[in-house]
Amino acid sequence: MDYKKLVLSTNEVEKIVKKEYGILGSASKLQGEIDINYKISTKNSQDYILKISRPDSTSDYLDFQIKILKFINSKNKNLPISKIILNKQKKDITEIVDSYGNKRILRLLKWIPGRLWSSVHPQLDDLRYSLGEKSGNITKLLKDFDHKIAHREFEWDIAQSIWTKKHLNLFNHDQKKILKYFHQEFELKNNDYNQLRKSVIHNDINDNNIIVSEDLISPSVKSIVDFGDAINTQIINEVGTVCAYAIMNQNDPLDAALPVVSGYHSIYPLKENEVEHLYNVIAMKLVISVTKSAINKTKEPGNKYLLISEKHAWELLNKWYNISSEFATYSFRKSCGFNSHPDYDKFKKWCSKQSISISKLFPSIKKNKLEKIDLSVSTKFIEPSELGDIEVFQYKIEKLQEKFPDKILAGGYLEPRAIYTTDKYGKSGNSGNENRTIHIGSDFWLPPKTPVHAMFDGEVVIAINDAGEKEYGGLVVLKHKTKNFDFFTLYGHNSVKSATKHSVGDKIKKGDKISELGNYPENGNWPPHLHFQIMLSMMDYKIDFPGVMYYNQIEIWKEICPDPNLLFKSKSIKSSKGISNAEIVNYRNRHLGKSLKLHYNNPIRIVRGAGQYLIDNTGRLYLDTVNNVAHVGHENPEIVMAGQKQMAVLNTNTRYLHEGINALAEKLLSTLPKELSVCYFVNSGSEANELAIRMIKEVTGQKDIIVSQWGYHGNTNKCVDISSYKFDRKGGKGAPKNTHVIPIPDSYRGKYRGLSTGNDYSKEVKKCIDKIHAKKKGVGGFIIEPIISCGGQVELPNGFLKKTYNYIRKAGGVCVSDEVQVGCGRLGESFWGFQLHDVIPDIITIGKPFGNGHPIGAVVCREEIANKFANGMEFFNTFGGNPVSCSIATEVLSFIEKYNLQKNALLTGGYLKKQLIKLSNKYPMIGQVRGKGLFLGIELVDNELQPLKDHANYLANRMKEFGILMSTDGPNDNVMKIKPPIIFNQEDCDKLIFYLDKIFEEDFMKFY
Ligand SMILES: Cc1ncc(COP(=O)(O)O)c(C=O)c1O
Repeated sequence: MDYKKLVLSTNEVEKIVKKEYGILGSASKLQGEIDINYKISTKNSQDYILKISRPDSTSDYLDFQIKILKFINSKNKNLPISKIILNKQKKDITEIVDSYGNKRILRLLKWIPGRLWSSVHPQLDDLRYSLGEKSGNITKLLKDFDHKIAHREFEWDIAQSIWTKKHLNLFNHDQKKILKYFHQEFELKNNDYNQLRKSVIHNDINDNNIIVSEDLISPSVKSIVDFGDAINTQIINEVGTVCAYAIMNQNDPLDAALPVVSGYHSIYPLKENEVEHLYNVIAMKLVISVTKSAINKTKEPGNKYLLISEKHAWELLNKWYNISSEFATYSFRKSCGFNSHPDYDKFKKWCSKQSISISKLFPSIKKNKLEKIDLSVSTKFIEPSELGDIEVFQYKIEKLQEKFPDKILAGGYLEPRAIYTTDKYGKSGNSGNENRTIHIGSDFWLPPKTPVHAMFDGEVVIAINDAGEKEYGGLVVLKHKTKNFDFFTLYGHNSVKSATKHSVGDKIKKGDKISELGNYPENGNWPPHLHFQIMLSMMDYKIDFPGVMYYNQIEIWKEICPDPNLLFKSKSIKSSKGISNAEIVNYRNRHLGKSLKLHYNNPIRIVRGAGQYLIDNTGRLYLDTVNNVAHVGHENPEIVMAGQKQMAVLNTNTRYLHEGINALAEKLLSTLPKELSVCYFVNSGSEANELAIRMIKEVTGQKDIIVSQWGYHGNTNKCVDISSYKFDRKGGKGAPKNTHVIPIPDSYRGKYRGLSTGNDYSKEVKKCIDKIHAKKKGVGGFIIEPIISCGGQVELPNGFLKKTYNYIRKAGGVCVSDEVQVGCGRLGESFWGFQLHDVIPDIITIGKPFGNGHPIGAVVCREEIANKFANGMEFFNTFGGNPVSCSIATEVLSFIEKYNLQKNALLTGGYLKKQLIKLSNKYPMIGQVRGKGLFLGIELVDNELQPLKDHANYLANRMKEFGILMSTDGPNDNVMKIKPPIIFNQEDCDKLIFYLDKIFEEDFMKFY
């Protein structure tokens, strides 16, 4: 039938609804395959959906539809399910003749408010879990329902899906290969499949039948509509259908399916034998979908709904085909709370009865004890740079071995390792990059040529040269049989010759020599060791088996590759869960300062830094766009070395002569104008500002200080007194009497706006001076940052500082530039912030980047100030200026110079700012992009320039999910601060922009 003739005009529909139901409303056409559906919107709170059947619908089918809804509504208390509205004659169905002369049957249902699943972005695990729950609920509600129509022939019934075989001719060669594979797999398991539990199921829980709550941050599924495809079939088909639709457009569809399955299972528990078929069932729903699309493409070209999911279904089918069905099944089992491998418990029990000592594996070594070696991300045994240097790595192992002569160094099971954080071990998961960082075997560090012996009878299944950097080298895998199950053992990093002397099928007897350990580089370029791993299945791996896995799959892998120590039972290498994040938080809350704050709704546990990255305890890399303290890169080896070397020689105070402090002063002064010529070294930015305040008081004899609104200068008593960001915000008590606050010189949203506000804001300083004078007091000084950081990365307007310094000096005050955040080349155009403004302060204060994470700060002032400050009272600082700190800070300054990092800040920062401006053109919510070099900020505002704090918070939290660290600031916490280590490069900028763009597209960011 011509599709166009099935569709009635909205006008006609409105008239029908009024006539038959007495409801006044406006009609809009909805998507639908079988019925032709319209939404009827009314002026009151209840809307409706009108379902107009096709002329060829049978009365049995309509009866089925009515009964199923009535049944479910009679059982259901909690789920909002569409209710049938009776017509004026109090009937469920209404018969009409449409304007084409066709007899049509109408049903009017209550509209369930909410969003369609297809319009929800992003769809995250919690939402998928709730979809699983609601689908489980539907199955539960339909449990005792039946109808003869539920037993009809139906192409969308997965149990009947084999009809699709007849249409293979519609597909190209590659598509055929995939379809045939799934047909074959489905048929192969058909006997078991036919025995599974059956019931009436909804059978079409797809994107357009799922109603999601309006909550944009943590949405949940409210209801499932449209029971038009309901059928009596295997219950697992319901799970398969939900998954097939809910996991489209995901980088990792299997990962996306797991919460759906868990949610379903939590309400309607699945059986192990059902889960076995889930992979195939999902595939067959997709097979039906692509076959139907291929057939219908020509039949009803006007019906876009039929084609809509074809492209996505094919993308998913391709991905699904490449996922091991066995691994998928193990994953589904785990998400239902079963052991991922069905033999895991048997294996554990069997191990408990074995008495195997390590000497069975290495009889020639004659050592029975193990000593744990820590190669985890946070290990202190070896530095990351040393891991890449095989000689040093080997040397460290030998040294440790010398310390424990009667033990074998071993460990590594479930250890997250930094060595696998490179791209080679990465993939693009559903939340950005994921790396296989978790080691799923145990390592035994022994000399090359150490013979490895069989602990059980076995048969060789792999014996190859697995050549390549960080691969296995000579690899042998044996298969072992026990009475109840089989398992495999893997031996990696052997000499190639010893491993490849075997052939697949060779029998190995308990006690036989399997191989000899290899040396680098042939063993994959590792210090000699055996990687020993147990597998309860080889899955689809034929020539290799991974030794490291993704952290988020670890619970699954643990039961596929059990702990080798189940055999050896060594206390020393026993893998422990360690302390959880929740426990750390708990302790902090009880025993650490109560006002300590944590980043992110779900805090992360950082255990290592590396350049512009931070790495968490699972080995996940985060691109750090926040930390201007790790100025030249986290744990920069050259800086670390400078500190370590000096620490090993001497660390004392400044009362002894030492060249280090002079060297630092000289290096620092070489970056400054000659007027700033005297240095004081302290331990922090706060100490630097505290000292600056003392100097102001001493030099001028005055206490009154002028500051900017929302300025922050440190955490000490006096620093808080001059920090509006503290005293004017939560917990603050307003400005103390000697502090005078000018409005923040923000030409975007401040008191004066526009291009030339420098004069206006400097007049505010003048006003303060006049007020101080009016009280018969004198001006002590003025302190400000060249770009106000905590205030929201606010750039000072042109001319402001110059005019202000004139006013202050005229009043006898001292001008202080707080360079704690912006200094040391970050701004690109100049090494220090004040240099952007063509002024020379009387005092500058330095902190954060100066020690690249080591606590050191500085004050540099004019000689006159230093002379007056030296009034006889000694300035002593126990740690300030110590040789270790000086060595580190000197190295930081040298490093910036050596690698031209100020220029990098200029170029990379310039590039990033341009990209951010482009983004701001796309998303008007980005009101302003500001800052200099690698000290940037984007301010999120609504159409009336009102701050969007929640959006900034959402953005920071979502970016973290994708492995990018950002933070918010400004008095309204609506500014995203971007101030990464200045080694940041263009690729990092592109990554940052890519994910910002992605998150700005999410629902929450669209509504404000
Ligand atoms: C501008 C400014 N000055 C001073 C300080 C205080 O430095 P510290 O925390 O090292 O004491 C900070 C710290 O955030 C700062 O941002």
